[in-house]
Amino acid sequence: MKPSLHEALQMDIHRINREIENIVKYDKDVPRTSVLARSVLRLIRSGGKRLRPIMVITGSRFGTASTGRRQYQLAAAAEFIHAASLIHDDIIDRSDLRRGAPSLHTQTGVAEAVHIGNYMSARVVELLSMYTADEDRFVHDLSSIATVQLCLGEYNQLQHAYDYDLSLEEYLEKTRCKTAQLMATCLRVGALSADADSETADMLYRFGESLGMAFQIEDDILDFTATAAAIGKPAGSDLRRGQVTLPVLFALEDAALAPYIRNIHSGVAEEEIEYVLRGIRSGGALAKAEKMREDYLQEAMNAVSPLLSHPAFGQLEVLHRYFGGRAA
Ligand code: FPP
Ligand code: MG
Repeated sequence: MKPSLHEALQMDIHRINREIENIVKYDKDVPRTSVLARSVLRLIRSGGKRLRPIMVITGSRFGTASTGRRQYQLAAAAEFIHAASLIHDDIIDRSDLRRGAPSLHTQTGVAEAVHIGNYMSARVVELLSMYTADEDRFVHDLSSIATVQLCLGEYNQLQHAYDYDLSLEEYLEKTRCKTAQLMATCLRVGALSADADSETADMLYRFGESLGMAFQIEDDILDFTATAAAIGKPAGSDLRRGQVTLPVLFALEDAALAPYIRNIHSGVAEEEIEYVLRGIRSGGALAKAEKMREDYLQEAMNAVSPLLSHPAFGQLEVLHRYFGGRAA
């Protein structure tokens, strides 16, 4: 059987999970038996690939210090930020399913889920400030992602809903904020926390940023190519919500299809969505988006080519194969 990512990287996933749970279990302000603590625990136990914590630990293997408690705490913080953002994302996207199971707000109600997401992101910023010595300012990068960059990425996305004049640069910037920066920062913070030199940490940042861009582009492509069962939400959800993703941007170059795409607005008839879905699936837009995804994968490898002789380089190849091989 194919090893999972953490097995291929020889990482202790139980230790990662333990540190994530410890954030809740040792919270002095929130009793373990409270509805709040139990909701957060249920959420973090509901699955997920732990990609971001894995990236923190991978980064730490490029340092001179060994990987220990501090790196696992940072890894857990990264997952907490991600989980908090998904609570809000599912509310904004009106998505009732996450990882094939009911999303948190469908279980708790929207108002309670908003509070849980807010609490998780606020708590993680507090913890990160406690992990930060004066000379470790890089840890603030994770706090900035939790409080500013993810929110701006999502805000941008909302501002540009049904905006068929969105430019490629605007799409790429939004994608960087909502997905790529967190992954890039995980690798960089992991590396610097283990005393890697700044050049190495910056190379790892660029590697993670390009992998993150490829990851989000793949997510955008899957909205057109995957079955609802595979992605845990109905196919075409992004298009229906007016998300001008990379395949949509390329499809807008097709003069025959463009007027039908531009006609999509909230409340448009389902047949019109189906028509555009068929048009995008049968035209060249998905191949163009896939080509851009592959270019980002190549850029990722180029960014770390100077690290080829590093003993941990094989870990980057494993991560890269994982991101490259996900496409359905
Ligand atoms: C998934 O996008 C969502 C994100 C990558 C980021 C969401 C960020 C926020 C809602 C800002 C709030 C953040 C905090 C920390 C409180 P997607 O909808 O394209 O992917 P999906 O298919 O997984 O839903
Ligand atoms: Mg979503």
